[in-house]
Amino acid sequence: MTTLATPTPSYEDLLEARKASGVPMFNDNKMKLGIFGSNCSHGLMATNAESTYRLDWQHTQKIAQIADRLGFEAMLPVARYRGMGGDTNFNGTNYETHTWAAGLAQATEQIMVFSTTHVPTKHPIVAAKESVTVDHISNGRFGLNMTMGWYKSEMEMFGGTQREHDDRYRFGSEWISIAKRMWTEDGPVNFDGEFFQVVDAFSDPKPIQKPYPVLVNAGNSPAGLEFCARECDFNFIAFADPEEAKDTASRVRGIAQAQGRDLGILGYGNIICRDTEKETKQLLDHILELGDWEVAKFVSGGLGSESGSFDKIKAMQERFILGYGGYPLIGTPEQIVDQLIKLEEAGVGGMMVGFLDYAEELPYFGERILPLMQEAGLRA
Ligand SMILES: Cc1cc2nc3c(=O)[nH]c(=O)nc-3n(C[C@H](O)[C@H](O)[C@H](O)COP(=O)(O)O)c2cc1C
Repeated sequence: MTTLATPTPSYEDLLEARKASGVPMFNDNKMKLGIFGSNCSHGLMATNAESTYRLDWQHTQKIAQIADRLGFEAMLPVARYRGMGGDTNFNGTNYETHTWAAGLAQATEQIMVFSTTHVPTKHPIVAAKESVTVDHISNGRFGLNMTMGWYKSEMEMFGGTQREHDDRYRFGSEWISIAKRMWTEDGPVNFDGEFFQVVDAFSDPKPIQKPYPVLVNAGNSPAGLEFCARECDFNFIAFADPEEAKDTASRVRGIAQAQGRDLGILGYGNIICRDTEKETKQLLDHILELGDWEVAKFVSGGLGSESGSFDKIKAMQERFILGYGGYPLIGTPEQIVDQLIKLEEAGVGGMMVGFLDYAEELPYFGERILPLMQEAGLRA
């Protein structure tokens, strides 16, 4: 039987295939844009501040269609099976992500539709097949964000115990090796690994996108960066400021380059933007005032207890409320674009963003922020 051997084409061949397929995530825009988290209640913002945002299919499609018209490159969901508690039960109402992507593929024209998959919850042959199906529905616009699963009580819903941290990435490595083989080999595929045994497996049709769908992972630990550098097109990073982004970007790209390949860097955060600083500050204060501090305490608990500094814990909780611990873009349109320029200079090639009110604020983004991004050369 064949054991672990990721059938990765040379990086040059991969890049050429990506460019030839014309997938938006490989266009020439220096700062790609994606909508993140619009498949979960409260999106990326743990607050009770007023919003028309709601989780139903009509509203979900509306958000995707606005982003599609504005030329965004991606719709990227959060994979969530369990709410996080607090008075919002943050993200507790949510859509499954492959089927969500399939629906949006049908409802949109050019934007890429991603699924986010907890690899321990789904067999790679099933995930590979589902991914091909959405790739066909979207005519080659599907992407896959792999997550190893970190939220213990969520993973325990599936029975068994959460694997040790680095074991999750060893499991993920076998998982993606099998998926890549299902996407690229005629078969039969045989695989005898530590976690998976695959016997005489076949999967047809093959993806439209060559050699397989665009792959993303948000590992930020040493094991996560190593996995991502080896297997993915993009590393989705969490950072406190552009300096930290630059450091993580150069670390993960360094690992990839040592293996003769490379990858892109994505960040994430909510956009809190109004015409004036005063209005922006009012909105920011309101979001925090009505923030779900209980869920923020729950999420930052483990991390906070290590920091030993109350200010640091409070800052971490604020960052959670303002956008899942991402890098919130706060200010007037000009200030937002200044921040995006700094991020691009730091090596971040795309931002996956959320809004307090996606459908209401996206048109404003299109009118006020996009033209400034174009003027700054961040987007065509
Ligand atoms: C931008 C970003 C998006 C993520 N999205 C999800 C998600 O949708 N579902 C999930 O369970 N975990 C998600 N995670 C958690 C990661 O998949 C990962 O478990 C976490 O970053 C810890 O990995 P690490 O220890 O290698 O850094 C996300 C993390 C980041 C930074």
